[in-house]
Amino acid sequence: MDKLLIEGGQVLSGEVAMSGAKNAALPILCASLLTAEPVHFTNVPHLNDISTMLRLLGDMGVGVTMDGVDGLVLNGGGLNNPVASYEMVKTMRASILVLGPLVARGGEARVSLPGGCAIGARPVDQHIKGLQAMGAEVKVEQGYVHAKATRLKGARICTDMVTVTGTENLMMAACLADGETIIENAAREPEVVDLANCLVSMGARISGAGTDVIRIQGVDKLHGATHSIMPDRIETGTYLCAAAITGGDIRLLKTSAAYLDTVVDKLMDAGCEITVERDAIRLVAPKRLKAVSLRTAPYPAFPTDMQAQFMAINCVADGVATIRETIFENRFMHVNELMRLGANIQIEGNNAIVRGVDRLEGATVMATDLRASASLVIAALVAQGETLIDRIYHLDRGYERIEEKLARLGASVKRVH
Ligand code: UD1
Repeated sequence: MDKLLIEGGQVLSGEVAMSGAKNAALPILCASLLTAEPVHFTNVPHLNDISTMLRLLGDMGVGVTMDGVDGLVLNGGGLNNPVASYEMVKTMRASILVLGPLVARGGEARVSLPGGCAIGARPVDQHIKGLQAMGAEVKVEQGYVHAKATRLKGARICTDMVTVTGTENLMMAACLADGETIIENAAREPEVVDLANCLVSMGARISGAGTDVIRIQGVDKLHGATHSIMPDRIETGTYLCAAAITGGDIRLLKTSAAYLDTVVDKLMDAGCEITVERDAIRLVAPKRLKAVSLRTAPYPAFPTDMQAQFMAINCVADGVATIRETIFENRFMHVNELMRLGANIQIEGNNAIVRGVDRLEGATVMATDLRASASLVIAALVAQGETLIDRIYHLDRGYERIEEKLARLGASVKRVH
């Protein structure tokens, strides 16, 4: 199992390009299930989660052709096996995103229930409830969701909570339904908008993506299209935090601050200077950051996927910060590992109180989930001495060539096999 060895103390500086967004690419690749024509994607990130999704789509009969460095053509013309097995879904929860498109196009799907994951229970009841509202017959048998419908019917769906993949699944299903579907309490995440843009270029009729009410007029068929995946706002935020903690000065390319308002605001509150360009962001950090409190909530509020990284920067900031997690019930697993590096953090329910310390010290730590791993990398960049991060397969799920990108910015980081 690969590990990452980081020698703390280097100030990050220079430029590096960001990749396409994992959380936009995953649903968008599933959109290829909605048409028998080839769909061409660009700016697809090289990540383990993307490889898993391509394997899953390939198993279903989708033709997968690589095209250049970050291009991909998916051809759903040969779709013949509408099944997502437990083996696939257990390694990547986002596999549930095949459910809506499969039922909408082929009338049937068998998708394993994702079950629990490290950050909480994460049920998919809202995905199921929405499909049932559209007339699908859904049974849960032997750990699988088995959904059937001759043709889905447009419906008015109000989800009980804001769910990102739930909104995406139902929006994709509604594209081929008979009549109008209205999704209320819809997720407003930029990745939902990127998916909607891709679907519209495939012939879907969608309005309201990016607001909490999305309207979809079903059409008989979708067609092929070309779509470029949006930049990864969480990867961008993670590198901004990495530079901030080291007192660095970096410029991130091929990205946008457009979807990072709350993250940029918090970094400025922490004392960083941020310059926003059309396709780049520059951050200049102060010698010592100020503590910043935050509360996670659905977009446009502060993203839960940036909570762990801000926990790391608060560990060495001046002052006390309260971090409140409201999306997932068990998303503080990085706390114990950060404490192994010398952080002072106290958990009270879904609040973490972080008291900034003067310095962290390198140790062996364990990555527990994707963003928790990112927080350990960030902390390791300032910890005195060496930090060995074990189980970095979590990082490889969501950060493209992380050690190369960090090394380009001057970090001392090595992958050890
Ligand atoms: C997506 C993102 C993930 C991010 C999360 C919250 C992808 C591939 N993943 O995950 O990186 O952390 O949004 O921004 O885009 N819930 C239910 N029933 C459901 C669906 C959700 O109870 O049917 C609950 C979840 O347990 C959670 C909350 O709703 O507490 C939000 O989850 P959701 O937005 O669905 O997260 P994901 O879409 O899985």
